[in-house]
Amino acid sequence: MLSLKKKAGLRPIAASFLALAALTLSAGLGIAHAADDALPKIPNKKPLKVGFAQTESNNPWRLAETRSFKEIASKCGWQMVMTDANSSAAKQVADIQSMIAQHVDLLVFPPREEKPLVPVIMQAKKAGIPVILVDRNVDQSMAKAGKDYITFIGSDFIDQGQRAANWLVKATNGKATIIELEGSTGASAANDRKKGFDEVIAKNPGMKIVASQSGDFARDKGRQVMETLLQAHPDATAVYAHNDEMALGAIAAIKAAGKQPGKDIQIVTIDGTKGGLEAIKAGELGASVQSSPFFGPLACDVAQKYAKGETIPPWVKVSDRFYDKSNVDASMQYGY
Ligand code: AHR
Repeated sequence: MLSLKKKAGLRPIAASFLALAALTLSAGLGIAHAADDALPKIPNKKPLKVGFAQTESNNPWRLAETRSFKEIASKCGWQMVMTDANSSAAKQVADIQSMIAQHVDLLVFPPREEKPLVPVIMQAKKAGIPVILVDRNVDQSMAKAGKDYITFIGSDFIDQGQRAANWLVKATNGKATIIELEGSTGASAANDRKKGFDEVIAKNPGMKIVASQSGDFARDKGRQVMETLLQAHPDATAVYAHNDEMALGAIAAIKAAGKQPGKDIQIVTIDGTKGGLEAIKAGELGASVQSSPFFGPLACDVAQKYAKGETIPPWVKVSDRFYDKSNVDASMQYGY
């Protein structure tokens, strides 16, 4: 606030009016932020009280992610406070607000959706609690890594979508009628996986996306949506599911419709779960781009470096494997 006066060369009265206005806005909306305020520090103490707010626990990916934090906790000197938002962004917000009220020393979480979690990031900052986002990011026009929170640790979801599309173009010789099963509406994982995939498909005139609907990253929802879309588009020859669980749901729907997954309909997906790898082995799933859920050790490493004063890049990028029938036997160990 002080630097506001210095920078703009304002007279004291005008400067304090502006400072007050900024503060009021910040308190009222929880999303406005002061220009030059530094990120909170991680206190030098053991154990460190760390809040981890999970989005849901209805798939192997989420369970693996939570497990990776439980497993790293004692090694990292973390005392975990863990919550599960049961697929609700509103509950995740409330969970994090309660962690702020408990004065945890560090907050680590995957924002379920890109926009609704922004205000709690600002509230944490105001309360002096540092935040590390893992897995999914927030809308960068509303909050910025390196300014409003320490960093985002995660995969390149656009690249994942592109890799899935490139595989499908090859597998279908550039000719396919595609059903797209999207992830949770508003999630960066769904937005960016769609963006990357759709971009590549748009450059291939023989490839057409005829339907695109959310299956909320859940197996049964994926099955139900696929059932409906297959009735509307019985000529579909390919499926792009934003995660393995929805792909497995789609496989069930395709079989129920009397078609053969992997033969009548090619399927490509993202995650690399054990179930996904087994489906590749069985010839029902064509390929899966890995999306690593093991953020516990990475978050621990970043937090320790940040506490020592090291510079952390705004995006700590995770690189992912790729699985199809050519390497699935040798890759089963990576399934989770
Ligand atoms: O954000 C990552 C995605 O969320 C994973 O692909 C999915 O399985 C999870 O629910």
